[in-house]
Amino acid sequence: MQAIVAVDESWGIGYNNNLLFSIPEDIRYFTDFTRHKVVVMGRRTLNSLPGSKPLKDRINIVMSNDKSFKTDSATVCFSVERLFYEIKDYNPNDVIVIGGQTVYEQLIDYCSAAHVTKVKKTGKADRFFPNIDLLENWKVKSVSEEKEYNNIKYAFYVYCNENTKQPDLTTEVS
Ligand SMILES: NC(=O)c1ccc[n+]([C@@H]2O[C@H](COP(=O)([O-])OP(=O)(O)OC[C@H]3O[C@@H](n4cnc5c(N)ncnc54)[C@H](OP(=O)(O)O)[C@@H]3O)[C@@H](O)[C@H]2O)c1
Repeated sequence: MQAIVAVDESWGIGYNNNLLFSIPEDIRYFTDFTRHKVVVMGRRTLNSLPGSKPLKDRINIVMSNDKSFKTDSATVCFSVERLFYEIKDYNPNDVIVIGGQTVYEQLIDYCSAAHVTKVKKTGKADRFFPNIDLLENWKVKSVSEEKEYNNIKYAFYVYCNENTKQPDLTTEVS
């Protein structure tokens, strides 16, 4: 698994179920990186997408505890164990965790890499990504040059996890 996220200087990712920033090059980066792959998201992130619809040209997996929840063109998983079962036959590099906070928190240890757009600004956030700069096993592998859009400075970071946890596939799932 890999994660992709855009964070502000406090690792904020969202406010009021919306993104903090809209930077065209970041949207392109996200689109290009996830296209034709499997994207994993929480139900609130799905609701934040246009029309609350899954993303085109990707295999969408949505996490929800609501057993009656159904959505077109997406698989719904009711637990992390079920998610691991669902993705077991994909190349792990092709399974991309796209948020939000609760899903990142549960899956970050299983991600081998994190593609982090760092925006050099502090937005008003009520949702956050774990601060992986504070975690020993996460190392910066590459950083782009600094970029700017509408007076907002940002850069693309790729982190790698030197101690990636493996999913336990022995647990029975319903
Ligand atoms: N900056 C970025 O790159 C980025 C990316 C994505 C999202 N975001 C932002 O993040 C915010 C949303 O994050 P969030 O933390 O509020 O919500 P979220 O993680 O997107 O979704 C939370 C929901 O996912 C379901 N869920 C989570 N873990 C589960 C589990 N183990 N089993 C079953 N269901 C599970 C639950 O759905 P039910 O309530 O249906 O049970 C839970 O309420 C928004 O502001 C969004 O814009 C930012």
